[in-house]
Amino acid sequence: MRNGINVALISPRRYGKTSLLLRASERVAAGRPAGAVVEVNVLLCKDIATLAARLVAATYGVKGGAWHRARRGVPEFVHRFRIVPSVAYGPAGEPTFSFAPGLAPADADRLIGDVYALLEEEAKRRPAVLILDEFQAITRLGTHLPALLKGLADEHPSVSLVLAGSKRHLMEEMLFDQEAPLFKMAERIDLPALPADEMAAFLAKRAGSVGKLMDPEVAGEIVRLVGPVPNDIQRLAYEAFEVAARRIDRSAVELALERIVTHESQGFMDTVARCTPGQYRVLVALASGHRGSVMTSGFARTVGLAGSSSVVRVIDALTTEEAVVERSVEEESDEGVQIKRGFAVADPFFAEWLCRTEGIGRT
Ligand SMILES: Nc1ncnc2c1ncn2[C@@H]1O[C@H](COP(=O)(O)OP(=O)(O)OP(=O)(O)O)[C@@H](O)[C@H]1O
Ligand SMILES: [Mg+2]
Repeated sequence: MRNGINVALISPRRYGKTSLLLRASERVAAGRPAGAVVEVNVLLCKDIATLAARLVAATYGVKGGAWHRARRGVPEFVHRFRIVPSVAYGPAGEPTFSFAPGLAPADADRLIGDVYALLEEEAKRRPAVLILDEFQAITRLGTHLPALLKGLADEHPSVSLVLAGSKRHLMEEMLFDQEAPLFKMAERIDLPALPADEMAAFLAKRAGSVGKLMDPEVAGEIVRLVGPVPNDIQRLAYEAFEVAARRIDRSAVELALERIVTHESQGFMDTVARCTPGQYRVLVALASGHRGSVMTSGFARTVGLAGSSSVVRVIDALTTEEAVVERSVEEESDEGVQIKRGFAVADPFFAEWLCRTEGIGRT
């Protein structure tokens, strides 16, 4: 980010992309010279006019922007844009910017270009960064946007463009496939899950800091049960913390898991109601701990599907629904550690519920 390098940050949901970006942005902004970081979450923009308005607002908010030094900062700022936004002032005198919902897409494109140009100007004297989080959703706002960004990134090489997203195939279509509009524009970072031992140590320390004891083995058990996603791990840890007296032991973890699964069961039931029988059987197979390839005739037989092409269709549908994620797992063999790709039920509590409902154990 400090060196104007473009980056694509990819991981399944809830691995910690936004948290990592936040931490990195804070460091860039606190550096010397303090960086200018503009960040927008694409998923929360209902249309391209909103994206443009959020980019403009985030740019205005950048500390140390040349416009803040002007006596009349806001007018000085808005006149840098080819389409001048309407400005309203909040109770504390803070400005909010908006554009008519009917803003023509070409005008929205110009605004995005203006934000980029403004950052390029900042980049002459300090690091300048444009972060688009949830970038996998960008084409919903305009199918031309990846190509537009490619043009802007070429034109303004000093600005670091950071694109973070979850759906791997969508990110690859835009960034890494041969015909991708942003092909070779960004360095790829696949954010892995946090190492289990680091996560366990973190849990034990957190518990200790608020006055309860968690043995390292218990922390490890929590990670093993619902890992690798930090959000799930912390949810179980928190629930175990709540139910335990002074010592968070295995029985507290068991009870906590039980509670979460019970609490969520209505939602799980709704998910199952939307599934075809084939999808349900695949979910159960993955929940019970199927590792390795799903492309074998053996797996198709297990889940009662005609063959691998039916399995692919079912897995695709479940992945689109985000009920299933593709996850790489490390496997130790004689040749050392190998990374294998496999599929898993995205929500470990749902996986647990499926196993309980079916009366099967998890491996
Ligand atoms: N290094 C970490 N240590 C402990 N917890 C973490 C860490 N990074 C993230 N988390 C926790 O994991 C959860 C998910 O993080 P975050 O929202 O950053 O993920 P994300 O990849 O952006 O998810 P999404 O794809 O849904 O946007 C949060 O509750 C966060 O507090
Ligand atoms: Mg996020």
